[in-house]
Amino acid sequence: MLIVFEGIDGSGKTTYSKKLYLKLRELGYSSEWTAEPTDGPIGNIIRKALGGELELDARILALLFAADRIHHNERMSSLLKKGKIIISDRYIISSLAYQGSELPIDWIYSLNRWARMPDLVIYLDLEPEDAIKRLKDKEKYHLLDKLRKIRKIYLKLINADPWKDKTYIVNTSRHEEEVFRKILDITLSILKGRK
Ligand code: TYD
Repeated sequence: MLIVFEGIDGSGKTTYSKKLYLKLRELGYSSEWTAEPTDGPIGNIIRKALGGELELDARILALLFAADRIHHNERMSSLLKKGKIIISDRYIISSLAYQGSELPIDWIYSLNRWARMPDLVIYLDLEPEDAIKRLKDKEKYHLLDKLRKIRKIYLKLINADPWKDKTYIVNTSRHEEEVFRKILDITLSILKGRK
């Protein structure tokens, strides 16, 4: 089972995805936490570009994100075969929303046609104004306008096919425990329904 966390920068994906991973382990579910961009060779090139060390055209970056994902899928497949639950911090919709904010979305969809569909998408929603407050200074390379645009694309995507039936929207402006409880309830109900 592949569970993915999506949302704009500062929405809490890393915190909540790791918390869910630890909780599932505690409950006896065999699970793994992972993230995109990955820490593999292609993910490392992407990180250099995001950090400003390497200047890459938006089209090249879109191709790299898709390539990193195909590579990631290879690792995911072997874990899924072993019956693991994979929790990924970002996945396909990140490319659709971020790269799709600068390039034709149809092209981003075709680049990702080989990527395995997730079973469950947890979209963490937060107003860009609040998200920006949570970002460390070095991460504020995404300006408010950009996050607004990306959030708009995210909301449009997850409310339409093929995402709407597998996506749960969780507002993360509430208290951390309350937000986590909601995420856990959603996940456990899906896991139990699948047994
Ligand atoms: P991430 O590691 O989630 O950021 P953070 O430093 O907040 O943990 O992601 C790094 C950036 O990469 C983020 O701004 C979103 C972007 N990104 C894309 O543009 N497309 C993609 O397909 C993915 C996976 C990430």
